[in-house]
Amino acid sequence: MPIQSICCLGAGYVGGPTMAMIAAKCPDIQVTVADMNGERIAAWNSDCLPVYEPGLDAVVQSARGRNLHFTTDIRGAIAAADLIFVSVGTPTKSYGIGAGRAADLRYVESAARLIAEVSKGHKIIVEKSTIPVKTASAIQAILAANSSAEATFEVLSNPEFLAEGTAVADMEAPDRILIGGEPTAGGKAAVEALVAIYAHWIPRERILTTNLWSSELSKLVANAFLAQRISSINSISALCEATGADVDEVARAIGMDSRIGPKFLKASIGFGGSCFQKDLLNLVYLCESFHLPDVAEYWRQVIHLNDWQKSRFVEKIVRALFNTVNGKRVAIFGFAFKKDTNDTRESPAIHVCRDLLREHARLAIYDPRVDAATIRRDLAEAGIPAELLDSNLEICADPYAAAASAHALAALTEWDEFRSLDLSRLYDLMLKPAFVFDGRAVLSSESLKAHGFNTFTIGQGF
Ligand code: UDX
Ligand code: ADP
Repeated sequence: MPIQSICCLGAGYVGGPTMAMIAAKCPDIQVTVADMNGERIAAWNSDCLPVYEPGLDAVVQSARGRNLHFTTDIRGAIAAADLIFVSVGTPTKSYGIGAGRAADLRYVESAARLIAEVSKGHKIIVEKSTIPVKTASAIQAILAANSSAEATFEVLSNPEFLAEGTAVADMEAPDRILIGGEPTAGGKAAVEALVAIYAHWIPRERILTTNLWSSELSKLVANAFLAQRISSINSISALCEATGADVDEVARAIGMDSRIGPKFLKASIGFGGSCFQKDLLNLVYLCESFHLPDVAEYWRQVIHLNDWQKSRFVEKIVRALFNTVNGKRVAIFGFAFKKDTNDTRESPAIHVCRDLLREHARLAIYDPRVDAATIRRDLAEAGIPAELLDSNLEICADPYAAAASAHALAALTEWDEFRSLDLSRLYDLMLKPAFVFDGRAVLSSESLKAHGFNTFTIGQGF
């Protein structure tokens, strides 16, 4: 029987967009996204979606009300579904065994318990959340121990590889879809049922099927390799600054080697986002659990370098501003972890702003998509006391307001609009000497110099 009804638990950055795309591409399938967060569901049902992604509004509008539904009735959605995607959050554990490294699987576990409780008949359960290897077996055990006699399940792994900011394009034409299942007759049938959904718009040769553990591990390894490339080029950015080489030129030169390739070689103040650090930590924890300390140490260095890169950038700012930023206004351009998203999870901007506030700088932050409440919350969660936020943090509605009377400007996200800023206007607004610290090489260092700025660009130096 082909799948007629899908439900997805979790209406976050992964669940919402992926289900919208499936609904848009498969008008013959009913897709219901369920989340206990009523505010989030209300936003998905409104004209102001909770996730900013270029092109997503149109995808949602094409299917919502037809075969795409958002609800807080989680039980009802589970009961009606033939196939259930689990897209709940898997944050890094902050307490107890594995704190700071292992994934916190409590949302996955409670989702599995609820599925077991509500389900009758046969259902396919698909892990979409990024999860450590062998989570599928935990889900299977919970389902087996808690479900009624007439319920049967197959558990699949189907990791999501979309990147935020390009999610719609990534889902329209993914490099590959990965589906892991068990080599039993039931497992194979479940894999085929999920393949048939994606085959509505994705060529079969791009749909890869593997065993469960390969699929789960591949997701962690893909993110670890991508993060490793960024740490590699960021390590070289420091060497370029010291030697007079330009990291973008080095990246271009090495990227033309087809064995290396040109992507993910953009030096930055460090990678952010909800996945890279979490998945690296998971990988490290996994290696430690399987008594592979050297492998764990190897991957731990990727995170270490990333933290160092963020701290190094702050140090550059403080040293250049005559060793003190106390009381000085610093304009911050960009707070999101990358352009074209309103997501700030693990954004390197949080680390940089936190450290500048600890140096008692006065920050004037402008980001085209991140709202003031989110910025304030992130910095409070990073340990900045409320009084310091009250006195030293200003959120600005445009970049020029942020730059007014600033000693320095720091670009922390590579938003396209920063490429066409009016540099003379910025220069006139700022105190002199006017410093620019470009953590994303998003501004033209030549033009900045021509306008009179003292410029530091990541991977180029002063
Ligand atoms: C990543 C993976 O790319 C995606 O496949 C997975 O499903 C989820 O994690 P995402 O975190 O959304 O996606 O964005 P990505 O484009 O990978 O960027 C992550 C971070 O790396 C951002 O902070 C970005 O600015 C930074 N980055 C990326 C660099 O600093 N340099 C680069 O060359 C590329
Ligand atoms: P991601 O980036 O992986 O999509 P998010 O944190 O953005 O992660 O979204 C996860 C969502 O899952 C949250 O909105 C949360 O409320 C929801 N959630 C957690 N547990 C459950 C559950 N048992 N059933 C339905 N939704 C859940």
